Amino acid sequence: MITQSTAREPVPLEADGPPFYLPVGNEVEVFEAAWRRGLPLMLKGPTGCGKTRLVEHMASRLGRPLFTVSCHEDMTASDLLGRFLLSGGDTTWVDGPLTQAARVGGICYLDEVVEARPDAVVAIHSLADHRRELNLERLGGTTIQAAPGFQLVVSYNPGYQSVLKDMKPSTRQRMVAVELGFPTADREREILERETDLRGRPADELIRLGQAVRRLDHPGLREVASTRTLVAAALLVTEGLSFTDAATAAVAGPLSDDPELRNGLIAMIRAFDPGNDPAAEGTSGHAGHQAAQKTTRTTNWIQERA
Ligand SMILES: Nc1ncnc2c1ncn2[C@@H]1O[C@H](COP(=O)(O)OP(=O)(O)O)[C@@H](O)[C@H]1O
Ligand SMILES: [Mg+2]
Repeated sequence: MITQSTAREPVPLEADGPPFYLPVGNEVEVFEAAWRRGLPLMLKGPTGCGKTRLVEHMASRLGRPLFTVSCHEDMTASDLLGRFLLSGGDTTWVDGPLTQAARVGGICYLDEVVEARPDAVVAIHSLADHRRELNLERLGGTTIQAAPGFQLVVSYNPGYQSVLKDMKPSTRQRMVAVELGFPTADREREILERETDLRGRPADELIRLGQAVRRLDHPGLREVASTRTLVAAALLVTEGLSFTDAATAAVAGPLSDDPELRNGLIAMIRAFDPGNDPAAEGTSGHAGHQAAQKTTRTTNWIQERA
């Protein structure tokens, strides 16, 4: 099934329009320059670092309609290009999101393209290279020239096996790569403030927790605490959950099913919970130091039991 985005989860708007996106580097400039030149873009980065939000922001900023496809292993080329559908007694051709984007000069975003099978990804080759055209064999071989403004954007997590490796080097080389990582602590704090109503020490400690989890080097952790999971934890705290409960549900839970590892993460979360340490009120420097010490112990604990 194709998810075609027009409305996904509600996204906070900037004062005059585009969904909020805080850049971590020069990705906005690279994106825009590539778009002007009709160059396809590959966004590389860990899950939850803001790839999808960046595309939503840019589509709005550039004033182009966005067609988002969440890729998955059952996706076929027809899901991207279109197919004949029966309606009443008639068969009608219905454009897929890639074809629609090419016709109207929109941005077609293949989210998590690694999930797609190579035979589905073949559909994008002629659009990604200098031809910028689509051949719809099933529609009697119709060729569509991509309208001005069309751009192909794919995202993937380079930590995973990549279907893009199977792309022709000529196609891959036509793509402009943008490498995204997690924002610095200051920027991530700003994102938390924009995305949630959490303020003050709990927000600071969530950011520190995220950084500490990212420093963990544990084979059982395929992913680290992403900006997304920190935003989710912050939202849960603003709903009245304790820091520990919120971070356990939003950060530790999604990261691992392994009970030992989970317990280690929860111990780590407790060390950052401002509610567990009322004596430290107003002495956050000292508390931060204590938390860091506790975290080192927890980290050791996790590693010892790996
Ligand atoms: N640079 C950023 N600017 C604004 N919000 C961000 C940023 N990075 C992450 N977020 C937050 O994290 C959430 C997840 O980001 P998303 O774009 O869905 O990640 P990805 O597509 O890389 O998995 C967003 O909904 C947003 O709340
Ligand atoms: Mg995404």
